[in-house]
Amino acid sequence: MSNVYALIGGSRLDHLSRLEGRMIDRIDTPYGKEPVELTRGQIDGLEVVFLSRHGVKEKKPPHMINYRANIWALSTFKPKAIIALASVGAVLVEDEIGTVAIPDQIIDYTWGRETSYNTGKESVINFIDFTYPFDMDLRDEIVRMADIMNLPIVDGGTYAVTQGPRLETAAEIDRIDRDGGHYVGMTLMPEACLAKELNLPYAAICQVVNPAAGRGASANSVEIASNDEELNKVTDQCVDLAIKTFVE
Ligand code: HPA
Repeated sequence: MSNVYALIGGSRLDHLSRLEGRMIDRIDTPYGKEPVELTRGQIDGLEVVFLSRHGVKEKKPPHMINYRANIWALSTFKPKAIIALASVGAVLVEDEIGTVAIPDQIIDYTWGRETSYNTGKESVINFIDFTYPFDMDLRDEIVRMADIMNLPIVDGGTYAVTQGPRLETAAEIDRIDRDGGHYVGMTLMPEACLAKELNLPYAAICQVVNPAAGRGASANSVEIASNDEELNKVTDQCVDLAIKTFVE
């Protein structure tokens, strides 16, 4: 049985400085010519494989990420769990910048992405049950660990996935709000359903980095803080939360 855990970093985290005995693997996949670069190592005695979702040297925008290759490459390590980190905009005004949320639902507004490992050549179609897009046990463990760590988080919420890379219009955010979306980002789909197809327990830790379009105090544009010290601190806390969840 494998003893490996996988962490996916988003736009705020493209390497994991805490990995000891770090090794870089470039994994060839059936899903394109470019290998997927993963970093492996130990944290607190735990085997961790880290994937920078957008790539390492060349940064792929959300609509150009090869999600199938990414998740397939991770699957070769048979990880016990995958925790994905993601930056989001807040649809609800009460969710301030720096809020950490563990979403439990997804609404997918993306289009044109490769969303399945079904090729049409199999004798059986893999119709996954996606009622609960995240692994509920893994989510519970993250929430429980946040409690132990005294880290304030929002337990639950619906992550709306937009196509990007442009941000949304104010009317699009109003629509997401009416649809029941709480957080808006561009990357957890098709990542979540691909992990589900491969039977890999997958959950996400989201960090609010801006009010969504039309929701900010001064908004006719969305400013996404990228290097703010406070936000970097929150990103570190999210990594810590993921690792401590794995260790438990
Ligand atoms: N919209 C979509 N994706 C995002 C946002 C946003 O406001 N902030 C961070 N990722």
